[in-house]
Amino acid sequence: MTERARPGPTVSRRQALGLIGVGAVAVTAGVTGWATSGTPLARPTGPIPPTGESLRTPADLTSSRGRLAVELTAAPGASLAGYPATAWGYNGSSPGPTLRVRPGDELAVRLRNGLDQPTNLHTHGLRVSAEGNSDNPFIHIAPGQVFDYRIAIPTAHPAGTFWYHPHAHGHVADQLFAGLAGALIVDASDEPAVSADRVLLITDTTLTSAGPATADTTSRMVGRQGELLLLNGQHQPVIPAATGDLQRWRLVNATTSRTLTLRLDAHPLTRIALDGITLPVATTDETVRLAPGNRADVLVRPERSGTFTLAATTDPRGAMGMMAGAAVGGETQPLAALATSGPARTPSALPTFPSGPAPVTGATTGARRLTFTMGMGGGMSGGMGSGGPGMSFGFDGRSFDPARTDQIVAVGAVEEWTLTNPTPMAHPFHLHVWPFELLADSAGSPPTGTLQDVVLVPAGGWVRLRIPFTALPGRSVYHCHILDHEDAGMMATITVG
Ligand code: C2O
Ligand code: CU
Ligand code: CU
Repeated sequence: MTERARPGPTVSRRQALGLIGVGAVAVTAGVTGWATSGTPLARPTGPIPPTGESLRTPADLTSSRGRLAVELTAAPGASLAGYPATAWGYNGSSPGPTLRVRPGDELAVRLRNGLDQPTNLHTHGLRVSAEGNSDNPFIHIAPGQVFDYRIAIPTAHPAGTFWYHPHAHGHVADQLFAGLAGALIVDASDEPAVSADRVLLITDTTLTSAGPATADTTSRMVGRQGELLLLNGQHQPVIPAATGDLQRWRLVNATTSRTLTLRLDAHPLTRIALDGITLPVATTDETVRLAPGNRADVLVRPERSGTFTLAATTDPRGAMGMMAGAAVGGETQPLAALATSGPARTPSALPTFPSGPAPVTGATTGARRLTFTMGMGGGMSGGMGSGGPGMSFGFDGRSFDPARTDQIVAVGAVEEWTLTNPTPMAHPFHLHVWPFELLADSAGSPPTGTLQDVVLVPAGGWVRLRIPFTALPGRSVYHCHILDHEDAGMMATITVG
């Protein structure tokens, strides 16, 4: 596969040239960093100041009478970080609207492709069929085309935080990096009331006056990182709260590559859910760590007024071996500020949230071993991925081939999978449709006792998972959620039937 052309925005050429022109004028006029809001942007050349805006919430599209029917148009032209006509979005916004459904609903999405490259829709974490026009990652929608998804949410589906994003192989990292992602919430009727229930979707990007930046070969190998870390598409927004509040934050790591450790000044984070599954027991910690694709629902209970930074530390990646010289990550950046007001208050007791489905216990019916592989050129069968000249990514020595079936599992099986990672980088492993329990890993972790859908497999280490394939026969994929790796071939197919 050859290096793709730079995905330019489909604003008209005249408009694009206009943006570049004004950007250049701003630069020559002595503006460093971002241009002020409302004017076309210049590429940042210095520290980017916080906007100080209050947090925006993506529009909610909520099901009624058992159905949510929406049209989503994926196209350039969304505002991001306060700057117009630069990002790609759904219905003109990045993140896209929050889709809210209930167990038993039908989600009907008419997806219109307004990009100049194929796209599609994946409902990350939903336990729904991967067949036909449901959550089928093999569908590619050509530019200008429309596709009607019909996704039946099972009546026993857990309530929680999920998300949607494009999944057209070869284009996924570019499209998320440009702004295409949104939250998907399965609502329950029996959850305790909170003062605020917030979607906090984290992305990162690099914007240029001509639109989203593309990544070079080295950044694709390591997994690209944007210079802007954004929350709901905003650069360091302010989250308002009153003392005594009980706020639920639905954190989604929608960055293409970063594993993030989040910390809120002076406030422990009480985690009530991981990857859309409510935990049997809430855990309170100083930090919450999210690999790409992971979600965590946390409760925040401010007691006194003040301004507190929500900061994100990115795991360092690619610092060894063949990645020498390409080390990225390790930095801590402010993501947002929590601004509280009101008299000091003692927080009220934590409510109990009804716990989600428990993992299966007991004997397993089979075991498999999978190995992450990153090789030089001819070292792998299945040809080179698009990771760049000389690099290929895959599982078990093979790059992704949608026509090949890599794993065949009987419906009803409960399997133990050992994922070995001999490469010099950690890879977040993700399996569609069938969430798993972490049983053990090379770091000596105890079994988690909960289901999740992304797990970080350490460099030079391994994880062991128990995966119930007890429902939803169909064909889908597993892959690394560093999306440049997925696009380069670190993905494989699975048939459950
Ligand atoms: Cu979040 Cu296969 O993806
Ligand atoms: Cu997924
Ligand atoms: Cu990877």
